[in-house]
Amino acid sequence: MPGRNVSPNLALNQLVDERNAAGASLVHLGFGEARLPVFAPLAERLAAGARRNAYGPVAGGKDVREKVAGYFTRRRLPTGADQVVVAPGSKPLLMALHMTVPGDVLLPRPCWNTYAPQARYLGKQAIGVPIPDECGGVPDPDALREAIRAARVLGHDPRIVVVTLPDNPTGTLAPPVLVREICAIAEEEDLLIVSDEIYRDVVHDPATEVLSPAEVAPRRTVVTTGLSKSLALGGWRIGAARFPEGAWGRRIRDGVVSAASEVWSTLAGPMQEVAAYAFAEPPEIRERLAACARLHGAVAREAHRIVVAARAVCRPPTGAFYIYPDFEPLRGRLARLGVTDSVSLHKHLLDAHGVVVLAGHHLGDDEQALRFKAATSMLYGETIEQQEESLAATNPLVLPHISGVLTRLEEAFTRLAL
Ligand SMILES: Cc1ncc(COP(=O)(O)O)c(C=O)c1O
Repeated sequence: MPGRNVSPNLALNQLVDERNAAGASLVHLGFGEARLPVFAPLAERLAAGARRNAYGPVAGGKDVREKVAGYFTRRRLPTGADQVVVAPGSKPLLMALHMTVPGDVLLPRPCWNTYAPQARYLGKQAIGVPIPDECGGVPDPDALREAIRAARVLGHDPRIVVVTLPDNPTGTLAPPVLVREICAIAEEEDLLIVSDEIYRDVVHDPATEVLSPAEVAPRRTVVTTGLSKSLALGGWRIGAARFPEGAWGRRIRDGVVSAASEVWSTLAGPMQEVAAYAFAEPPEIRERLAACARLHGAVAREAHRIVVAARAVCRPPTGAFYIYPDFEPLRGRLARLGVTDSVSLHKHLLDAHGVVVLAGHHLGDDEQALRFKAATSMLYGETIEQQEESLAATNPLVLPHISGVLTRLEEAFTRLAL
């Protein structure tokens, strides 16, 4: 069975809790959660929705689907309510997509740690394809062509390519030119594109152009999104998918709804109330989204500066709340400390420096590489007050609860490079 072990990021959380309970004080960068409080109007909507106890339609009520359709339409993706399905998180929607659409799955390498296990649960091959030097979230186009060819020679049947825009784990956004190249390959090779855009509203610079493959290849792209990251509502489990127009899109949507009806029935009524409000994006939600994206950008850029000063190679973060450094330039020095691969680097950072990261091999990356993911969204403070202060600050980096932990990080990585 592919899923015997708990997801590596959840296992790390458990380890951090145990060590902290035993008196350690760890800097935990191993979990992809936006550590920010619930925005008060969202909690009010949740309370207002508490009386919604009927099951309701599997795809979600018309009101919430219209609001999600409006959200996409404002992002240059004209959408009707019948193209939308809401669900308890985008994770089950991605799983239902793989249950519905046959064929093996092409993934950027590294990528979010859930894509490959989902594919394997369904008996599919998860085919990792290296990412370009400039960004993650999409396979390198030449490598993608070659991976498709090689997979077919081996008797596999790649029919789906997953992209993540912006990306977890690299914290980067693929530029339009690369998105177009991937779409062209998908057209040539008749692939379905699954565009995971859960970080779309966490682009650090509002002037950045985000091009969705659904704009370029509208008939063959399914987009997934949710409120877990942009509004820090991971535990509320609100996700949505946008299906293509046309016969193929309708078939896929019907398949996902059918899977949903047998697995989760529908998104919880109170959460539909929250989703309808948030996806309508009234001014206060837009302001909150912008404040969150600003904070994520400021802290991710500082963490990037710290690892680069320690001589790591690292793509500059432009979206989401991660950095993905490569400590290859320090290989000789690290070998003398017994650090020779992704596992030993992770262990050394934990044991010698109290810094918790997610080792790159958990994300499909090469085990021999000295790479890891650090989630910088864990650095905004321990209390709700500190986190709100971080969001409100013009320069969050000077707040004592943020600068203190960044200084610890800087000390740890400086010592690593000595
Ligand atoms: C790239 C990516 N997609 C999807 C998800 C899951 O989101 P949800 O909470 O909507 O299931 C995550 C969460 O870590 C993620 O990083």
